[in-house]
Amino acid sequence: MADAVAPEWSRATAPDGTSFIRAGSGAPVLFIHGVGMNAAIWQPQIERMADRWDVIAIDMLGHGRSPLPPQAPELADYARQAIRLLDHLGLKSVSVVGHSMGALVAQELALIAPERVDRTVSLNAVFRRPPELAEAVRERAAALTGRGDAAGAAQTIARWFGDPVPAGLMAAAEKTAAALSEVDSEGYARTYRLFARADNDHAERLSTLTVPALFMTGSQDKNSSPAMSAAMARLAPHGRCTVLAGQRHMMAVAAPDLTTRRIADFLSEGAEREDGAAGFDSGEFRRALGSFLTGVTIVTTIGPEGEPRGFTANSFTSVSLDPPLVLVCIAHKALGHPVFATSKSFAINVLSEDQKTASGVFASKAADKFTSVAWQSGQTGSPVLDGAVALFDCDMERLVEAGDHSILIGRVRYFQHNSAQPLGYCRGAYVTPGLSQEALAAIQPGTDVGAILENGGRILFLETPDGFYELPRGRGLGSAGDGKSLKGLLAAKAIEAQLGFLFAVWDDAGNAARTHVYYRGTVDVPASSDRGIRLIDIDAIEGLQIADPAIRSMLARYVRECTEDAFGVYVGNEVEGEVRPLARSDAASLNTGDQG
Ligand SMILES: Cc1cc2nc3c(=O)[nH]c(=O)nc-3n(C[C@H](O)[C@H](O)[C@H](O)COP(=O)(O)O)c2cc1C
Repeated sequence: MADAVAPEWSRATAPDGTSFIRAGSGAPVLFIHGVGMNAAIWQPQIERMADRWDVIAIDMLGHGRSPLPPQAPELADYARQAIRLLDHLGLKSVSVVGHSMGALVAQELALIAPERVDRTVSLNAVFRRPPELAEAVRERAAALTGRGDAAGAAQTIARWFGDPVPAGLMAAAEKTAAALSEVDSEGYARTYRLFARADNDHAERLSTLTVPALFMTGSQDKNSSPAMSAAMARLAPHGRCTVLAGQRHMMAVAAPDLTTRRIADFLSEGAEREDGAAGFDSGEFRRALGSFLTGVTIVTTIGPEGEPRGFTANSFTSVSLDPPLVLVCIAHKALGHPVFATSKSFAINVLSEDQKTASGVFASKAADKFTSVAWQSGQTGSPVLDGAVALFDCDMERLVEAGDHSILIGRVRYFQHNSAQPLGYCRGAYVTPGLSQEALAAIQPGTDVGAILENGGRILFLETPDGFYELPRGRGLGSAGDGKSLKGLLAAKAIEAQLGFLFAVWDDAGNAARTHVYYRGTVDVPASSDRGIRLIDIDAIEGLQIADPAIRSMLARYVRECTEDAFGVYVGNEVEGEVRPLARSDAASLNTGDQG
């Protein structure tokens, strides 16, 4: 295997006998292979990274050309071997990428010598094996004799690549089999016995890992499962979990492009942070993005054990009408990422302004998010939340990787919506136009509160006996029982209205005590046209007899903004004022900084 390495890659030996490959230049990265492999298994990574990185691949003790480990080694023996190599190379600190057993060594290295490690990637790592997996690996360890074991190697290849090996993976499987056939059987047996019992070694210590850590595995890797990587990422303070769909244990060899890109992206984040400090202010970038006013959704799915999963997201976007596609972005570091990235369906619940609490819960890392909401299974099986404004129940159409997020593109199988008020989000704060404006109206009981109520391109007016047209209005927003208020008027005339965004606020210069507040809203078709209720086409409004010039000018703006589909709030007096955006900056603050 080692001989397959291209000649320009230098293979060298450290004073303690450790053999290693070194290639390229740039920030240093140390690669540590798994049991039975050797440094040259990283050939795909070396080829893809040597142009930007100083790549060092070590032969672990008992493997390749390195000396044997002690009879009953500990992870620290392998980590100290790596530290000696760094000392020999004069490297103060490196990023460390480990595969399988090598991932445990990488973690050990970061735990015992954090000052020597910048970032760490654990590929296909084991963690707290469930009893049946622990038993199987113990049996395999006990069966090792220290002599060559061709049958065992064949089983290993079947476990790692599939049985039979898929045609497209044949070359990768042969390369791996060649490495296995070359390994020193005593070195292999000593290391494998450690591997069989080391899955718990970091259970208590991962919470003290100080370096950024990526835990990445394949969705089909049963022995180093997505659940294990997710559990490690949850414990590590700067942990993140990524699952590569359809990949198994040897994904670094079987899917070298994707795997290497993900490794390099993660390691680059550190490099960019160091040299990009002056160039790109990511905090400012986040704040700039935050000025885009959005709705808020909770995206849900069902996990592999049948458990409901969900997270708050404002990255929801419509993509295509035909076919009906929508998207939402999920951060790689979200605990739910491995589940969503491999799920066959998901649902997007658009939140109403009554669901701020649910938004907060689903933006947290709580384990029992679904105990705080009422939900049921939707058509695709994903949880559908009661009280949402709209639902898009989707099959997973495509997963697209984009930087530190994955884009989930869903094909909408089923959708529904109602007229409840949607929750908004802007500049790190919730925007609840309906409720906050209600409060505004309530503070001044004398306020003239009215509504422009729309139904399919028509506006509701009340026609007076002398042929004038008025918008529904009253003293204060009030309630159905208060006949003088807007809500009282609507109730008395059996008008089913849903008040929405504030549209205009102005003071009446002729009567300084009076403020006028007008909402936009929607209205169901009234049961009858008696009591002067009229639905007038928006185009016909200009020709109506409207007595109040302030209302006339407000309606002129309404007609204009309807055609532009861009509403603002008018604030001023009946003569002059300005159209302002809707967001309040003092709204509820959030318990998370990540807004997708
Ligand atoms: C308003 C709002 C919008 C958010 N949008 C997104 C988003 O689009 N994508 C994302 O990955 N996280 C988003 N987040 C953050 C996640 O909800 C948060 O990280 C959550 O903890 C993820 O859950 P999990 O780690 O249990 O999977 C948003 C948070 C808030 C408050």
